[in-house]
Amino acid sequence: MKDLEEEKSPFMFGKTVQKMDFINRTKDIEHLWLNLRSGINSVLISPRRWGKSSLVEHTATVKNNENNVRWCFIDMFAVRNENNFYEQLCTELLKVTSSKWQNWVENVKTFFQQIVPHINIGQEPTTDFSLSFKWEELKKNREEIINLPEKIAQKFDIQLIVCIDEFQNIHTFEEADAFEKLLRSQWQHHKKVSYCLYGSKRTLMTDIFNQKNRAFYRFGDIIMLDKIATEHWTPFIVERFAQTGKEISEELAEKIAVLMKNHPYYVQQLSHYVWEFTRTQATHATLQQAIMRMLEVNTALYQYEIEHLSNTQVELLKAIVNNEKQFTAQETLQNYRIGTPQNVLKNLKMLEKMDFIEKHKQKTELLDPALELWFRHFYMNFKFNI
Ligand SMILES: Nc1ncnc2c1ncn2[C@@H]1O[C@H](COP(=O)(O)OP(=O)(O)OP(=O)(O)O)[C@@H](O)[C@H]1O
Ligand SMILES: [Mg+2]
Repeated sequence: MKDLEEEKSPFMFGKTVQKMDFINRTKDIEHLWLNLRSGINSVLISPRRWGKSSLVEHTATVKNNENNVRWCFIDMFAVRNENNFYEQLCTELLKVTSSKWQNWVENVKTFFQQIVPHINIGQEPTTDFSLSFKWEELKKNREEIINLPEKIAQKFDIQLIVCIDEFQNIHTFEEADAFEKLLRSQWQHHKKVSYCLYGSKRTLMTDIFNQKNRAFYRFGDIIMLDKIATEHWTPFIVERFAQTGKEISEELAEKIAVLMKNHPYYVQQLSHYVWEFTRTQATHATLQQAIMRMLEVNTALYQYEIEHLSNTQVELLKAIVNNEKQFTAQETLQNYRIGTPQNVLKNLKMLEKMDFIEKHKQKTELLDPALELWFRHFYMNFKFNI
């Protein structure tokens, strides 16, 4: 009987990956690290699920022992207002100051002069520790918190790296513009703190950092993250099969990466299904089966996304998938019934804004490779033949 360890899938998706599960990106790690440890703020941008959060977490893990640098992580996933943001920021910052929760309580007294936070301690203080504020009191003294990172870095003589995931959520705050201005005006004076900002909504992130009239314009080095090349995926997939007593040929492993256009999340997801369907040796039939499973699993989500498009947008997607070159040419307009040239241009813009499509080196493509396969299959009667 195989032992349990062998039965666990060696592929991971839907969670950030680190250490042994993290592949390649050596240049990105060095680039990010060089920036952050020398005080250069950095902004990470990519389409969804290409590996931004994993890259930052992994960089922190491998560079954790470097002198005098401390990392602080804030996830704004569930942060919906300014007060929440300050609470999270302060809680995580205090954790940087010591590994003992007793010291955190002490440090609250040292670091807060104007505001008196409420300290919440649960059964397991190291994980169940948080601060909360009275908004009325906090409102008048926001700078005290916004400057807390610098204050802590100065006091402990460290280079502090503050990483904020889902940063684009600041746009949901009530007075978002004013908040952005305040944050930027204070953070730009921080000498011993570098900020690493990233988030899953590419368009919103790009707007925050690339628009001249926004407070965070030119806040830091913008790193556009790429996908992971096939040459790194192939040996990874082959090895992961081997480690669990199964086999896959290089050719088939490469095919998985190519089919998923090297999209990190989907390469891992498809590899997982191929692995699951394989008893000992993966075959073309297993791959075919795995693709169908993957499309099935994602159907509800894709259906929801497509249902929100207009008919002309759906027809335009067909033209894009078919590699049409000139969307506004008379013939294309007629063949696909996509309206007037003005309509087409407007729809292209909207699809791009919604992150459906991307223009890359003169070529317009669907951003999501699995959605593309699904769309081909269900909307265009495309039959796979691996
Ligand atoms: N370096 C890597 N090596 C192996 N797999 C990776 C790597 N980076 C990302 N992945 C795969 O991609 C998935 C998504 O990664 P991650 O959550 O870091 O992306 P993200 O860009 O932060 O996503 P989102 O835009 O949704 O926030 C992971 O669960 C993993 O399957
Ligand atoms: Mg992420």
